[in-house]
Amino acid sequence: MAISPTITLDTTLTELYKRASTKNADRRIGQILTGANSGLSITPNFPRNTKYVYQDSPFNSVPKSELNDDNTELQRSLAMKYLSLVPQRDAFISGDTAIVMFHVDDSEEQIAHDKSEAEKSIESLDPQQKPRFVFCPGPRKIPFEEVGVDALAYKLVLDGLDQYPLIVPLDKHWIINSKGVLANSGLPTPKAEVIETSGHSQEADLCCADCQSGNTIFIPPSCNGVRGKWLNEQSDRIISAIRQRPIPFVLKNQQTFGGAGTYMVKNEEDREKVIKDFSSDLNHKMLSQITAENHHLKPGAVILSDLVSDPIGDYGLTFFVTDRGDAIFLAVSEQMIDENSAWVGSTINYSRQDALEKRFAPIMNQIAQWLHSYDYYGPAGADILETAGKPRNGELNSSNPELHIVDLNVRTSGSMCLPLMKGHFQRRGLRSASSFSIVVKESRESFIKRWQKEFESGRMCILSWYEDPKGVESIGDVVVGAEDEKTLQQEIERVRKTTDEVTF
Ligand SMILES: Nc1ncnc2c1ncn2[C@@H]1O[C@H](COP(=O)(O)OP(=O)(O)O)[C@@H](O)[C@H]1O
Ligand SMILES: [Mg+2]
Repeated sequence: MAISPTITLDTTLTELYKRASTKNADRRIGQILTGANSGLSITPNFPRNTKYVYQDSPFNSVPKSELNDDNTELQRSLAMKYLSLVPQRDAFISGDTAIVMFHVDDSEEQIAHDKSEAEKSIESLDPQQKPRFVFCPGPRKIPFEEVGVDALAYKLVLDGLDQYPLIVPLDKHWIINSKGVLANSGLPTPKAEVIETSGHSQEADLCCADCQSGNTIFIPPSCNGVRGKWLNEQSDRIISAIRQRPIPFVLKNQQTFGGAGTYMVKNEEDREKVIKDFSSDLNHKMLSQITAENHHLKPGAVILSDLVSDPIGDYGLTFFVTDRGDAIFLAVSEQMIDENSAWVGSTINYSRQDALEKRFAPIMNQIAQWLHSYDYYGPAGADILETAGKPRNGELNSSNPELHIVDLNVRTSGSMCLPLMKGHFQRRGLRSASSFSIVVKESRESFIKRWQKEFESGRMCILSWYEDPKGVESIGDVVVGAEDEKTLQQEIERVRKTTDEVTF
């Protein structure tokens, strides 16, 4: 039921990988584009990451007693988002290559459904730009030969991927995405202190009776052995640093996914709230994950950085780092952030891209060179805040704005489809576009019917969609184009009125 016109992307990830490396131009690079988490396994074959710890919102906000494999409802909702919605979105822009996908669950009907959902989402793409999905049970069970590539690239590090040929080594990828490394990079980023933990907790069976009989992934609060003692010492150091930092500041966890782990501390009330959250729960959850295997990565570090106040711009810069350390500019989009500072989507204005490219070129090249110093090549994104510049004669200097890198995402990002769809929208007279996630109480088919006019004219496209076969709910990612920014905001409003936001 393809009612959309054929979508031809300006370029694809596969083409960018070839352009960015003459050495790798003939290598076939497959993609793993799923999310990951460290709180609980997503399916029996997609266990939680224990070495490469990611804090996502379930890890941070679900009570410890519910973060376990009996929580099948949470597992299923994560599986639909992390194993289907998220990878489909990046698969859409991957081009002609293999995408490794993992089953949401391993029943026959479910596997057939997963495949059909992924195929439907790429139905409108130009046949030469369609990826090829290879479904398998989990990261440790990828039929590498069958995937038919020379090496794999991935969006997030998954434990167990080190058995395959990779474009970027796992430790390195995790490190260049960690917030403490950015803080100390020398790049133009807010001044920060990184509170590092020292050492790691011991194995449970070397500790007290409660640890030995404990069956959770967290050190039991009642532990009176070496693990509890170590944890309390580390936690006290973090809390005392949070107490001492002059207000305002921003507190971040070392490695996060899906917009969790950033806390704005603007007043004493905010400070008390984070101290309460960190001392009662968050430190306990995080510090329990530090082991002999991962402590060199400093997963438990906490970053306290200066708050960039009164920003006049909030941008998402996306580009592709070549193996020579140059950058291929993709886009500067403007971020939509909700009142809790969570990323909800981005808008792009195609007419402004040339001017923005000129303005962001120096900072983009600086980041590319820094990533090159870690031998990274591939997609990258930076969240950049703009301020009016240092006061001159007591007045804000708006003629000399300053750019501050507040976050680096060295991977594909949710807004990467926007530059690649520039031609698609511009050919239709649409100069602005936005992509965002939605939850709807209907099927894909009925959603498309509701927005039939928009789909037929190419103003609206589905990047990714997953209909829950056990209910009448769908989660999706759509991109919407409009003539100008004002019309775009109205279009987004119209869609938002009949949909909910996806929370990660
Ligand atoms: N130092 C800072 N000063 C002011 N705002 C910040 C700072 N750091 C982050 N932010 C705001 O919070 C948002 C989320 O922070 P970010 O580090 O990008 O975390 P995430 O991992 O959730 O993307 C940013 O896009 C930015 O708008
Ligand atoms: Mg960010």
